[in-house]
Amino acid sequence: MSSDVVVGSRVAVVGGGVVGLSVAWLAAASGLAVVVVDPSPARGGASWVAGGMLAPVTEAWPGEEAVLGLGLDSLARWPDFAARLRADSGVDPGLDLAGTLVVAADGADAEVLRVLADYLAGLGREVRALTGRELRRLEPGIGPSVRSGLEVPGDLAVDNRALLTALLAACERRGVRFDRRSAAEVGPGRVSTTDGSTVDCDAVVVSAGAWSGSLHPALADAIRPVKGEILRLRARRGALPPPTRTVRALVESRPVYLVPRPGGLVLGATQYEAGFDGDVTVGGVRDLLRDAERVLPGVAEYALDEVVAGFRAGSPDNLPLVGEVEPGVLVAAGHHRNGLLLAPVTAEAVLAALRGDAPPESARVADPARLSAVAR
Ligand code: GLY
Repeated sequence: MSSDVVVGSRVAVVGGGVVGLSVAWLAAASGLAVVVVDPSPARGGASWVAGGMLAPVTEAWPGEEAVLGLGLDSLARWPDFAARLRADSGVDPGLDLAGTLVVAADGADAEVLRVLADYLAGLGREVRALTGRELRRLEPGIGPSVRSGLEVPGDLAVDNRALLTALLAACERRGVRFDRRSAAEVGPGRVSTTDGSTVDCDAVVVSAGAWSGSLHPALADAIRPVKGEILRLRARRGALPPPTRTVRALVESRPVYLVPRPGGLVLGATQYEAGFDGDVTVGGVRDLLRDAERVLPGVAEYALDEVVAGFRAGSPDNLPLVGEVEPGVLVAAGHHRNGLLLAPVTAEAVLAALRGDAPPESARVADPARLSAVAR
């Protein structure tokens, strides 16, 4: 990965989600002049909707070792990233170190967890198999029909909305400028906006999540929207408190996760290949609520505060695209289910590219140049 861009250059970051804001913050902190082009930075995209899991291990699956390796590298960067962000912004980004439980509702679900546990043990990852009783000792709210599970202490979580608030504040403190127009397309040295104007710059970073594919021809077939529905629940007075850890579950083969927040939890998520259909469906909400209640029966007493759909940015091989697509145009998108997790390593890789430095070794798997091979 090489670049002619040098410190002091002007960088336009298209997209103000967690990836774009992380890039903008680190680039501005390193002395670059940065503008973020987004009509509503920190709002509206997948980062705002997300559950906030930082979970390379419990998202892992045989055959996706490159995704796991990149995720583990980024997870290792999270504590420093969060501490630096807190110091720079004055806002606590809500990193939660409590860990994750994965639980199985029926016998077939338990079998899937056994496959995952064997796979992870083979990779030397720390996982502990637990009976239903042991699970309930750790999290008393887990329901009586949950059969077994795994404890994965290394998989963490972050409060996505607190994180976005912190990133916005850090960007502002570092002098990032915000241009609230919508980008229509990008090319070397320019961002064209939908109102017919142009933002001039020396380097463009496309970090518009699921919308990135429409901004540059090289990305058109590489990034697609993958819809997810998510619910936010609030613990009402007298209800059981939320779990202390993230609880992921398989319920009759359907995945569901419950990520604690102060006074409630985030419950997600469905996954559909449905283009940019932003409707929240009755069936999706029904499945999430029914499955969550089987895992944590106490959620029936919670208030349902929010139902929302978002679009993950899918890529052909579930790895993100991070690097140069042509001289002066970089991409940082396609993070699929792992945008929050991968923000630190992505921002470091983009910063390295902007400065003409070598990217982190782990990020080489995300080089967009691989996609010509994928397309062949
Ligand atoms: N990372 C969880 C999800 O995409 O639903």
